Amino acid sequence: MIEKVTARAFANIALVKYWGKQPGFNNVPATPSISLALKSLKTITEVERIRSGKDSFFLNGSIVSKVIYRRLVEYLDFWRNNKLIDGKFIIRSHNNFPTGAGLASSSSGFAALTVALSAFSRRKIGKHQLSRFARRGSGSAARSIVGGLSALPIGADPAARLLLSGDEVPWGMVVIEVEGRTKKIGSREGMELCRRYSPYYRQWITLANKDYRKMLSALRRLDFSRVGEVAEANALAMHACMFASRPALVYWSPATIEIINSVWQWRVDGLETYFTIDAGSNVVLLCKQEDLKEAIRRASRLKNVRSAIKSLPGGPAEIIELS
Ligand code: PMV
Repeated sequence: MIEKVTARAFANIALVKYWGKQPGFNNVPATPSISLALKSLKTITEVERIRSGKDSFFLNGSIVSKVIYRRLVEYLDFWRNNKLIDGKFIIRSHNNFPTGAGLASSSSGFAALTVALSAFSRRKIGKHQLSRFARRGSGSAARSIVGGLSALPIGADPAARLLLSGDEVPWGMVVIEVEGRTKKIGSREGMELCRRYSPYYRQWITLANKDYRKMLSALRRLDFSRVGEVAEANALAMHACMFASRPALVYWSPATIEIINSVWQWRVDGLETYFTIDAGSNVVLLCKQEDLKEAIRRASRLKNVRSAIKSLPGGPAEIIELS
């Protein structure tokens, strides 16, 4: 009987964003999305079977908050209720990047947990199904199961599919963590706010579907400029939908806007890089691999930047140890 499993997954950053859920209970996205997994943003999760007591979770060595605990137990209950696993577990998860700073830790976190849990199951669970399961924990985690450049379509119970493996992607990203973050509203709450109260929500859904098709076509041609243009416009449209919500949902801080303006200026000066922004104030740059060094040099010198991490594309979520 397996007692302990360690799994690794990479966080991903979307080039076409998932923002909004289809009404129902299975955490099904209302928009299709495309993302790149990042080798430098890694979660390692150890799952150990326990004989008695209740599930327990540690994140970077500390007990998780009540809210996160409930979400994780709910996820384990999904596995148990479907007779995929039984018993209780102690889970220790470590991120090698700042947790809770809006750096996509739920994507790698739920992907690593999902892959680790699958080793405890008597059923053989394929990658497709694992991606579906991970999606129930966090929509973006479905894409971290697959890694590389992956697409999560819409549908009744969608799974992510691989577009290009990490090794085939000639680009990378620079993740810029900024100072002076405004209070973070979680993506679940933020999406629901937009669905109910943003006058632009329907337009956003229509536009996201168009951007998804444009992005697929640009990726087939590995057309970097087009990929960057669509990614940037898509992120701005998602934030416009948030801004218009009543009450307004504004994740940006002054530093976010400074970086946007700098990126536009850098392009004029000849450094071709494009930005995207998740549900937070941090900014992520998409660059050709040969430009990563220059992009991180410039990003690190900007005012109000806390950290800048450069990354090449990462692979799929994997089990790295079994005992
Ligand atoms: O997977 P969630 O529930 O954390 O939502 C992800 C939302 C965004 O990061 C803003 C977009 C995305 O597609 O990753």
